Amino acid sequence: MNNHPLHHRIALITGAGRGLGRELATAYAAAGASVICTARTQSQLNKTVATIEAAGGTACAYACDATDETQVQQFFEAINDKFERLDIVFLNAGGAEGEELPIAESDFTAWKRIVDMNLSTAFLMGRGSLPLLRQGTDPKIITMGSGLGQAPRIGASAYGCGKAALSLFTKALAMELLPEGITVNELIPGPVGTDPDGFEPHYVEEGVFKGEYFKNPADIIPLAMFLATQPSHGPSGQTFALNRRLL
Ligand SMILES: NC(=O)c1ccc[n+]([C@@H]2O[C@H](COP(=O)([O-])OP(=O)(O)OC[C@H]3O[C@@H](n4cnc5c(N)ncnc54)[C@H](OP(=O)(O)O)[C@@H]3O)[C@@H](O)[C@H]2O)c1
Repeated sequence: MNNHPLHHRIALITGAGRGLGRELATAYAAAGASVICTARTQSQLNKTVATIEAAGGTACAYACDATDETQVQQFFEAINDKFERLDIVFLNAGGAEGEELPIAESDFTAWKRIVDMNLSTAFLMGRGSLPLLRQGTDPKIITMGSGLGQAPRIGASAYGCGKAALSLFTKALAMELLPEGITVNELIPGPVGTDPDGFEPHYVEEGVFKGEYFKNPADIIPLAMFLATQPSHGPSGQTFALNRRLL
């Protein structure tokens, strides 16, 4: 049982098709959870599920654009038919699309797309998960923040604004759900290498990330497991960061 701290838990993980989401899904499944994986790209989700099942775990996948209210509604209708509750919801979907242009040169549509990818995904998936979470045991939401949402960086305004708003969304939702015993916390991973073709962890010697350590996806799992195993009287509305610089 100690080797399976998430035994009997049902976990929804957004952005589980690759990168940190896939790492979270496989780790939670290895800890005993049944994992519901979602992202837009079905082929990547299938790979996550195949990896989990090959290791003896339980997972399923649903393709869904988490910025599209109709698709999110259909997604929750589908899982409602199959699952009677959710215990853990990890709102991990998000990211950037490479280096952004300075604000003065930004295209509004592209700028909004990045904000949406990091904020609306969490709003729609978080809100949609509440009816099932209310049936869960020690129910919890974990959001995936970023140090770039805590301090400005040139060339990352949309991503930073999306993550800054996500951080406040985490706290607002935590306050609203406190009376119901549903906790909401933010995990900030710091820089992580997610290249599927291989990656060497390393210290950053210069630039704005000087002093940071580019870690492996597996390095975020102990904190992700800590947050997934807290009781409902545990922390809520908090940010837990693995950075090595002042945020
Ligand atoms: N890697 C880092 O250094 C780092 C540092 C700080 C924070 N983070 C955060 O950690 C999270 C995961 O990052 P990552 O590096 O693993 O990124 P990634 O490899 O690009 O994975 C992002 C995941 O989110 C999904 N996604 C993106 N937009 C979506 C949408 N509209 N609807 C549904 N799913 C969507 C992607 O799948 P589809 O494209 O198929 O939809 C993918 O599965 C992100 O929130 C990121 O901002 C990462």
